[in-house]
Amino acid sequence: MAEGTQHTGETEPVLVVIPTYNERDNLPPLVQRLHTVLPQVHVLVVDDGSPDGTGEVADKLAGDDDRVHVLHRTEKAGLGAAYIAGFRWALARDYGTVVEMDADGSHAPEDLPRLLDALRDADLVIGSRYVPGGALVNWPQHRQLLSKGANLYSRLALGVAVSDITAGFRAYRRAVLRALPLESIASQGYCFQIDLTWRTDEAGFRILEVPITFTEREVGQSKMSGTIIGEAVVKVARWGLVRRAQQLRALRERLRR
Ligand code: GDD
Ligand code: MN
Repeated sequence: MAEGTQHTGETEPVLVVIPTYNERDNLPPLVQRLHTVLPQVHVLVVDDGSPDGTGEVADKLAGDDDRVHVLHRTEKAGLGAAYIAGFRWALARDYGTVVEMDADGSHAPEDLPRLLDALRDADLVIGSRYVPGGALVNWPQHRQLLSKGANLYSRLALGVAVSDITAGFRAYRRAVLRALPLESIASQGYCFQIDLTWRTDEAGFRILEVPITFTEREVGQSKMSGTIIGEAVVKVARWGLVRRAQQLRALRERLRR
């Protein structure tokens, strides 16, 4: 067994959920790298009917390897909806750990053993670009600004002590996903990551960040858009108001006693 993969039974087996939209050329090398590092993990590709044929590429991978599974969805409904579908699929089976990972190679499979190791002492482990040791490679200046701005804005609004709250490379214990109200999570874009982070924190679970190197994709295109940014700005403000109001109520209760 590779170093860093000896885990307590509680978090085994591991499912890596990979949402895809037009990632035909990125998917096969990623899955191969993943299985080189961690031969025992299962992969679930959640494809939203990619016009470039990613779904068929995934089917081919699954046909050749029973560690690979595919969920086909009919239309592009956003990263959030794809993950929720993947989480439900995992909860209907016996996976003890569910990992989120981008398909484009930005998240290095070689970093995953450290995420899984950290899950021994946590319920959610976030692969973070913004803790000491974390790094960004080839990410354009405007994306760095957007990402750092989103983190600052979210931290101020929500008061969650996480440095990389929009990070898309994560490992969840099954218990967290079982406890969260998946049916009422409506975030479509990348605010899905923020949404799950504050809910996990609010539910009292332990969150740890471990440093990762995020490398910009070489092939294909980011799906970041103005709609995704707009959704995040509005929703984070709304969650922040609700959370701050709750914190105030709790404080008032405590002072009254
Ligand atoms: N199924 C499905 N449906 N997959 C999607 C959709 C969708 O509507 N939109 C994006 N994806 C997939 C992409 O194919 C990729 O595998 C992954 O989600 C991330 O999308 P990218 O478009 O590559 O994201 P990015 O590089 O711009 O954004 C990165 O930074 C964000 C902000 O920190 C990612 O790490 C995000 O996860 C992160 O939130
Ligand atoms: Mn990307």
